[in-house]
Amino acid sequence: MALDRPKVVSIMKGINIGESRLMRMLTRGCFPHEFSWLIDNPVRRLFVAPETLADRLPILEGSRVLEIGPGSGYFSVEFACRVPRGRLELFDLQPEMLAKAKRKLDARGFLNVGYTAGDASTELPFPEDHFDLAVLVTVLGEVRDKRACIESVHRVLHPAGTLAVHEHLPDPDFISFDKLRSAAEERGFAFQRRFGRLWNYTATFQKSFADHRAMLGASE
Ligand SMILES: C[S@@+](CC[C@H](N)C(=O)[O-])C[C@H]1O[C@@H](n2cnc3c(N)ncnc32)[C@H](O)[C@@H]1O
Repeated sequence: MALDRPKVVSIMKGINIGESRLMRMLTRGCFPHEFSWLIDNPVRRLFVAPETLADRLPILEGSRVLEIGPGSGYFSVEFACRVPRGRLELFDLQPEMLAKAKRKLDARGFLNVGYTAGDASTELPFPEDHFDLAVLVTVLGEVRDKRACIESVHRVLHPAGTLAVHEHLPDPDFISFDKLRSAAEERGFAFQRRFGRLWNYTATFQKSFADHRAMLGASE
């Protein structure tokens, strides 16, 4: 059955969900927290399971990990499991999403997790060169100013730190690998590796090797 906009709207009115929020979920833009059950769906494992994603990333027990746009924490529990001596910082535009993620992480007893609400288009409220890893899963496409976001992530990453981005279709905000790579390289990130298919990929980038060499040189 084909669903046009009026049909969808009348169905959603029946179950008391606002039209604007529904349209935001189906179209481009910030994914509304009222629909977090959709991104918490176990069917997502068919795209990428949290353990599979974490295995692709350079996470050590003591790593400082920044997850931007964690939503309700679908991947965050696995990231927290992997850093028993480190720290996981969750940063999301919607405090309601952070509250949902916190409930999940609290229930598992994680004490080394921070929660900050804010817009990743602006300067991230963390110290320079601080994180070993920054992860964004189906987030960057929603961010108003992607360039500013990548710039801000670059600032807070340790010189040897890694930026990891996972994107998959049919997310309406999907960013192609080529677009992502040129945006990251423009800011000085060096491409490391791509996992998966072009429609469902994880890409990793290292903060500029030049910065890393400069840091090593400065300490010699
Ligand atoms: C599609 S959800 C993905 C959630 C989670 N990464 C996952 O895959 O389950 C996108 C998330 O990014 C957040 N987000 C969108 N724009 C943002 C921004 N400018 N700054 C921080 N978070 C943002 C949304 O609030 C939402 O929680």
